[in-house]
Amino acid sequence: MGVVGTGSVALRGLLPHLTCEDNDESVEVTAICDIDVDRAQAAAGAFDVQETFEEYERLLASGTVDAITLATPIGLHFEQGKQAIEHGIQVHFNKTFCTTLEEANELIDSAEEAGVKLVASPGQLTRPREQRVRKRLHEGAIGTPTWAAAGRAFGRYHQEERSVRGGDDPLSNVDPSWYFRKPGGGPMYDMTVYELHSITGILGSAERVTAMSGISFPEREFHGKQIETEIDDNTFLLLDFGEALTAFVYGAAFGGLPGVNAFLINGSEGQINGNQLNGEPIEGADDSIEALPHVTGEHRSIQEAHVYEDVMQLVDWLREEQPPIATVEHARHVVEIIEKGYRSAEAGEAQELTTDFEVDTSLLEHY
Ligand SMILES: NC(=O)c1ccc[n+]([C@@H]2O[C@H](COP(=O)([O-])OP(=O)(O)OC[C@H]3O[C@@H](n4cnc5c(N)ncnc54)[C@H](O)[C@@H]3O)[C@@H](O)[C@H]2O)c1
Repeated sequence: MGVVGTGSVALRGLLPHLTCEDNDESVEVTAICDIDVDRAQAAAGAFDVQETFEEYERLLASGTVDAITLATPIGLHFEQGKQAIEHGIQVHFNKTFCTTLEEANELIDSAEEAGVKLVASPGQLTRPREQRVRKRLHEGAIGTPTWAAAGRAFGRYHQEERSVRGGDDPLSNVDPSWYFRKPGGGPMYDMTVYELHSITGILGSAERVTAMSGISFPEREFHGKQIETEIDDNTFLLLDFGEALTAFVYGAAFGGLPGVNAFLINGSEGQINGNQLNGEPIEGADDSIEALPHVTGEHRSIQEAHVYEDVMQLVDWLREEQPPIATVEHARHVVEIIEKGYRSAEAGEAQELTTDFEVDTSLLEHY
């Protein structure tokens, strides 16, 4: 496997996990690619990876990888994914899959034609919490669901990821400016994508979206440099799931909903708050990272273990024909929600959603 982009998630998560000794038999990192060649070489040295590439095309043509994990800025995922598919290389997309429905359709169609497998993060449905909540909800634990709330705020997270952005050598000076730029920046593609996967994974596909959105911090600062905010950093969606079931989902600049643990789902007979039903823990709805199937042994103490879990969905699919839970059809639906949320805010009108996805519950161990 090749790791493309050796910034924050690669250095803190992908590379430490994928080069762990217990992976030896299932996956090996054979190449690293980054346009910052000093960073690529430093990362290869730190994680003992054989090959480094500055040019992505050359990695793809090199014959050194069967698969890649794309850990580049989100706005590059579409082009880089398409190029990998053209070379017959299997792809794991770190969140978010891509930025528009049109891109998602093109990636899915071209992968199918080429016989290439794609897995897209975030695989929220790999989590026992989401699986058990979905099951309890479908069993009627809260009666008729009425409304839900979820979301996340940007804060200054990416400006302050100290270990990878706080220093002055190639492994610690990674510039986060793209998180505030188009395409692919902003808290919706960066953070709220997790909650959107959870909420739709539990409630199913949404039918319509309406939104208000804008830029509340026109400038950010990183290492003394001003970064202009190009993409909205304060976005509030209402999702219509049909029969008046509505979800409020936010990707805010700052702030949150105190007391909400990941998501809140209200119904005629009760309330689910994260892994609790009416204030009591839901049996088996473990929300710890250790509850993920591949997160064992050493992996438990390495950051970003959920990302490793998603990469292993692709590895298992390739090696054992085990289909993934983190499907690109689910990711496409979430991409459509984000894209059309922005469009709704601009147009001042609700937008119809055209995609849906199925959850194969036979793959869910805690269902
Ligand atoms: N930072 C996190 O906490 C985090 C967590 C989970 C997932 N992710 C996801 O991982 C991906 C990367 O995020 P990040 O925070 O690691 O970004 P980052 O900015 O820290 O690193 C991106 C790296 O990509 C390199 N790059 C830029 N253009 C390139 C190109 N054309 N070819 C090859 N390399 C290129 C940059 O030089 C940089 O080293 C995104 O999809 C993000 O959503 C990030």
